[in-house]
Amino acid sequence: MGVDVATPAALSTVPVVGRAREVELLVAALDAGAHVVLEGPPGTGKTTLLRAVADEAELPFVFVEGNAELTPSRLVGHFDPAQVLERGYTPDTFVDGALAEALRTGALLYVEEINRIPEETLNVLITVMSEGELHVPRLGRIVAADGFRLVAAMNPFDAVGTARISSAVYDRVCRIAMGYQSAADETAVVTLRGPGVDEQWRAKVVSLVRRTREHPDVHVGSSVRGAIDMVRITAALTRRRGRDVTDWRSGLDAALVALSGRIRLVESGSRTAEDMVRELYRAEFGEEPRSDDEDAADPEQQGGGAPGGA
Ligand SMILES: Nc1ncnc2c1ncn2[C@@H]1O[C@H](COP(=O)(O)OP(=O)(O)OP(=O)(O)O)[C@@H](O)[C@H]1O
Ligand SMILES: [Mg+2]
Repeated sequence: MGVDVATPAALSTVPVVGRAREVELLVAALDAGAHVVLEGPPGTGKTTLLRAVADEAELPFVFVEGNAELTPSRLVGHFDPAQVLERGYTPDTFVDGALAEALRTGALLYVEEINRIPEETLNVLITVMSEGELHVPRLGRIVAADGFRLVAAMNPFDAVGTARISSAVYDRVCRIAMGYQSAADETAVVTLRGPGVDEQWRAKVVSLVRRTREHPDVHVGSSVRGAIDMVRITAALTRRRGRDVTDWRSGLDAALVALSGRIRLVESGSRTAEDMVRELYRAEFGEEPRSDDEDAADPEQQGGGAPGGA
């Protein structure tokens, strides 16, 4: 499996906008030797924060993507079958997985989406957190070197494909909640990640994205990723169309592409995500300015995104 061992030298500095409090809390928790889970909706900067802190503190870390296929042997490591045939079960025929690697080197083990990993894999982590060591059949004990800590990120439990992690896990980790940042901070994130565009217009894009989180018919709104994509797509689209980046229709097209897949509506509603994006776009950017342009046929009038029946 793809174990990504990042050493400080291999990392470029990761800029983090705001988040001073969360950075301070994470640094303190890691200083105290605690295992930590960062919990918050997608796109709230959990990975960014952790990478920045690990980088700043010059901590080595081992990165592992949490998903349903992360079996215990993928996380821990396995014996190479071909080599075992030749030499038997010896330490050098064992291929370290992310956990063995982190234990031996005293690294941070960073598990993304910990709530997506299978129960039996979680149990391995629980054991390691409790005992500070791991017993691998036919290999023996791997004792956690100084500095080993688990840092995990997860979305709140209602996200699709996630299960609530057990209280046995929660009881062994400290938790830092990551909410959405302020409009000013999100605008700064988009400035950092997106192309140079008109500042006022960029702030309105962020405001539009924030509206997706507030509308009563929207169950899950877009993260700042939606704003970054909308700015990038609008810039690319207006370049192709030879228009200004603030072009109303290009902005709407980009909003539909960047946001309609990112929002989830409440189940009882009969409207589509595209209708919702159009409504919110108009609320933020106003109605389409009258122009002498004749190619401005409205896709809404052409049956685009027809809502299902009530
Ligand atoms: N405070 C921040 N400073 C700089 N960039 C940020 C910040 N917050 C979010 N971003 C940017 O927003 C995007 C999403 O951030 P990130 O991947 O860290 O979120 P996440 O919480 O790990 O998301 P997920 O739950 O989906 O894993 C990235 O492009 C990241 O660079
Ligand atoms: Mg992440």
